Amino acid sequence: MSRQEGRGCDRRDFLKAGAVAGIGAALIGAGARAQERPGTPLVEFKVPPIDPVRIGYVGVGGMGSAHVRNLLRIEGVEIRAVCDIVPQKVARVQQWVVEAGQKEPEGYSRGPEDFRRLCERTDLDLVYNATPWEWHVPISVAAMQAGKHAASEVPAATTLEECWQLVETAEKTLRHSVMMENCCYDRPEMMCLNMVKQGILGEILHAEAGYLHDLRGVKFSDQGEGLWRLAHSIKRNGNLYPTHGLGPVAQCMDINRGDRFGTLVSMSGPSRGLNLYAAKKFGPDDPRARQKYALGDVNVSLIHTALGKVITLYHDTNLPRPYSRIHIVQGTQGLFEKYPDRVYVEGRSEFDKWDDLGKYPEFDHPVWKQQEARAKGAGHGGMDFIEDSRLIEALRNGRPLDMDVYDAAAISAVTPLSERSVATGGQPVEFPDFMRGQWKTPRVLHVMEVPAPTL
Ligand SMILES: NC(=O)c1ccc[n+]([C@@H]2O[C@H](COP(=O)([O-])OP(=O)(O)OC[C@H]3O[C@@H](n4cnc5c(N)ncnc54)[C@H](O)[C@@H]3O)[C@@H](O)[C@H]2O)c1
Repeated sequence: MSRQEGRGCDRRDFLKAGAVAGIGAALIGAGARAQERPGTPLVEFKVPPIDPVRIGYVGVGGMGSAHVRNLLRIEGVEIRAVCDIVPQKVARVQQWVVEAGQKEPEGYSRGPEDFRRLCERTDLDLVYNATPWEWHVPISVAAMQAGKHAASEVPAATTLEECWQLVETAEKTLRHSVMMENCCYDRPEMMCLNMVKQGILGEILHAEAGYLHDLRGVKFSDQGEGLWRLAHSIKRNGNLYPTHGLGPVAQCMDINRGDRFGTLVSMSGPSRGLNLYAAKKFGPDDPRARQKYALGDVNVSLIHTALGKVITLYHDTNLPRPYSRIHIVQGTQGLFEKYPDRVYVEGRSEFDKWDDLGKYPEFDHPVWKQQEARAKGAGHGGMDFIEDSRLIEALRNGRPLDMDVYDAAAISAVTPLSERSVATGGQPVEFPDFMRGQWKTPRVLHVMEVPAPTL
């Protein structure tokens, strides 16, 4: 790990999370109570149309590069500035932008805080970052304070304090702060959402979701995420990556649009996978094999919503297994499952038998029907392109974004809350009410709106 990229491990919050296990029950009362903060939520927030959308991109590693490549294919986008602590990565993206027929963007690579100079430029509308987790909030906050909108890779924040920082900065500066959760745009998840919104599954009562991904190779790599992700597994125990599973489910359950996440309990099992993998790969005496990893291999959380619905959420990244996000959405009339994709609808499916999604073509989400050809070949089966094009389309047309800062805060809050619950033996912890009561009002989920194609 390079010195510049190792900042994550030194953060006070990680130490706090590591230390909290020993503090015990004394903390439970204070830690479990949701913080309340005053403020006026930005419900249905939109800004006047921005065209073109002038972007400064921060962090052009694996995911940032993929987003930049998408953005260069979307009409109405100008990449004006690029920042990364590795100058060669900046140079590579500068070249792509020129090859796409745009002016060479200015490069920023004078160290881990150089994004601040980028944010101060006067010719940017949006600062979009795909950096390691601990940088998401500093970058988004600096962007909003400098008058730009902020888009961030997942998770949007890593502590409750950071979640509030995003909410309060967005409210104060009247800027968008959006978490770019691409799994909300995967075709089966969008089809499920469409079925839910059309009432086919009845009233939604329960969901299961997760991030079950064998990341052992990634965590021990000497490049990309390997430079920073393992540090979190050493220090933290909980659900470190809740957003891919929870984002789509939250949309199906009207979270922040009539309901909200209320209480969470979380438990982690033993930590074995990383030690076993490292011993096999590097030898039993290698420091990586002898390292103590805080992260339990399988973490399970239960979320109880304010309306009394239950979500089961898994985090499982240290063991050999095929990929899954589970994605079960269950209502009074039937249920939708992924991994494998299947549906059961009472009155339409044969009793006690699953249907293939192909039997329900009318529920394919209209956004996918509209964008399928353009999304072909883009990252993660095309959902990343759809995600980026939705963001740009909304900004260019002055529409509310598909997800807002309250979604970013509520979904990201699962990590610190799960750490707290795990550290206190599975005690319940409350979600902060980031919307200060305004979640009670049903409102439009903008990803269900399909404008005429303008891109
Ligand atoms: N949505 C998805 O499917 C998905 C997939 C992979 C990663 N991600 C997320 O994307 C983010 C980046 O992950 P990645 O796989 O691209 O990792 P990566 O390590 O490949 O890229 C991170 C980049 O940020 C740069 N960087 C680090 N600190 C910086 C700073 N202070 N200022 C500017 N640049 C800095 C690094 O040099 C690197 O190029 C993470 O938040 C991760 O969770 C999301």
